Amino acid sequence: MKNIRIAVDGPASSGKSTVAKIIAKNLGYTYLDTGAMYRCATYLALKNDLTDENVAMILQQLDEHPISFGRDIEGNQLVFLGDVDVTLAIRQNDITNNVSWISALPEIREELVAQQRRIAEKGAIIMDGRDIGTVVLPDAELKIFLIASVDERAERRYKENLEKGIPTDLETLKEEIAARDYKDSHRKVSPLKAADDAITFDTTGVNIEGVVNFIQEKAKKIIDKG
Ligand code: DC
Repeated sequence: MKNIRIAVDGPASSGKSTVAKIIAKNLGYTYLDTGAMYRCATYLALKNDLTDENVAMILQQLDEHPISFGRDIEGNQLVFLGDVDVTLAIRQNDITNNVSWISALPEIREELVAQQRRIAEKGAIIMDGRDIGTVVLPDAELKIFLIASVDERAERRYKENLEKGIPTDLETLKEEIAARDYKDSHRKVSPLKAADDAITFDTTGVNIEGVVNFIQEKAKKIIDKG
C-alpha cells in the first residue's frame, strides 16, 4: 500500500484540523497541525515581549524551546515547547490575534517550513495549514482546500471556545475571522490560496462526517492505486 501525503489548506475554522485528525486516525497516518507551530512562535514572541524587529531572537527562542507534539490518555493532541505543555495557552485570544504578524515573517516561515518538511519525509501524513499544498509539500499526492462562510466558521469556533472555557463574543469572532482571512490571504510570503491542483470543497452546511468521507474517498483511491 502506498503511503501518501495529504495537504489540507483553508482559512481559519474551515474544519481542517477536525477532519484531518479523524482521517489520520482512520488511516493510521501522522497528523501535523502546522497552525499550532505558528501559534508556538507567537507564544514565545509575546512571552518575551518580542516584535517583528526581533526576528533573530524569536528564532533563538524556537531553537531553545523546540516544538513537539504528544498525546494525552484520551488520544488528544498535546503541543509542547521544550518540556512545557502549551496546548491550551496557544489557543488563547492574545495568541490568535497576534499570529498573523508572526506568520508573515519570512525567516519564521522558512524555519517552520523546514521543520514541517522533515516531519513529512516518511510520508503517511496529513498536514493542515495555509500553504501546505502550495509551499510545504507542492508534490503532495492529494491536496484539499476547505472553505466555508464566515458566519459558519465563527459559529464553529464559538462552540469550540466555549468547550475549552475560552470567553468569546460571537460578533467579535466574526470580525476577527474576517480580519485574519484578509491578512492570511494578502501577506507577501506564502499567502493563503488554493494550489492549482487542489480540490476545493465548500463545507458550509456539510457535517464533519461528510467532509471526512469526501477526503477519505479521494485518499483511498490514490492509496489503492499505489
Ligand atoms: O490553523 P490556525 O488557525 O491554528 O493557524 C493559526 C495561524 O497560523 C493562521 O492565522 C495563519 C498561520 N498559519 C500559516 O501562516 N501557515 C500555516 N501553514 C498554518 C497556519
